[in-house]
Amino acid sequence: MKTAQSVIKSGTTLALIAAICTTLVAATYELTTERIAANEKSLLEKSLQPVLAGVIYDTDIGESRLVIAPPHDLPGSDEALIYRVYFDEQPVAALFAVTARNGYSGSIRILLGVDFDGVVTGLRILQHRETPGLGDKIVSARSDWVYQFDGRSIGDPDVTAWAIRGDGGEFDQLTGASITPRAVVNAMRDTLIYYEAHRDEIFSLPSTEDNQ
Ligand SMILES: Cc1cc2nc3c(=O)[nH]c(=O)nc-3n(C[C@H](O)[C@H](O)[C@H](O)COP(=O)(O)O)c2cc1C
Repeated sequence: MKTAQSVIKSGTTLALIAAICTTLVAATYELTTERIAANEKSLLEKSLQPVLAGVIYDTDIGESRLVIAPPHDLPGSDEALIYRVYFDEQPVAALFAVTARNGYSGSIRILLGVDFDGVVTGLRILQHRETPGLGDKIVSARSDWVYQFDGRSIGDPDVTAWAIRGDGGEFDQLTGASITPRAVVNAMRDTLIYYEAHRDEIFSLPSTEDNQ
């Protein structure tokens, strides 16, 4: 009888400990997930700001995200992201995270900002595998190459001149490494053309939820 009582007591104690542990793990998960989400949000915001030169906005950019699944008319065959930017509930800019194909060492992920009229507000390279000292000069920390596009749009120069000089266009290439800039400039041109054709649609679609 005593043994049965002691088994019940031990079982109850174990069940209690298990319940406490489960609650602690669940609470820690909840808190950590919230903190990670907040950190990701602030990182995203920081990485988006450099391509929004001169744009005044009052919304949370991360919350206005559109995920464009392939196939689409934007550069690259992977997912494209578009962030809509607003001031006083009016659209003022759009940011595009798209993939430029055919770099020297594969794809290059770029972030391009345009104001409502399609004027470039900034370009940054998010990801690449180009050669240090050659193709990697497309990165703002390595050279001024990305800044030549600020203030330009389709029409300035004309779409036919949205190319590197070696291809008859207006934009500087990198000496001895023209493959990398060609990939980026062509992707920018295609993004600007897409923006011009889809602007109304871009600003009217509902945001893509995080779990979609
Ligand atoms: C080891 C090595 C790495 C290279 N890396 C790059 C690169 O990152 N980007 C690039 O455009 N060209 C790179 N190139 C050069 C290309 O082969 C090619 O010559 C060049 O892009 C053409 O540029 P150009 O029209 O200025 O001559 C590399 C060449 C070698 C041998």
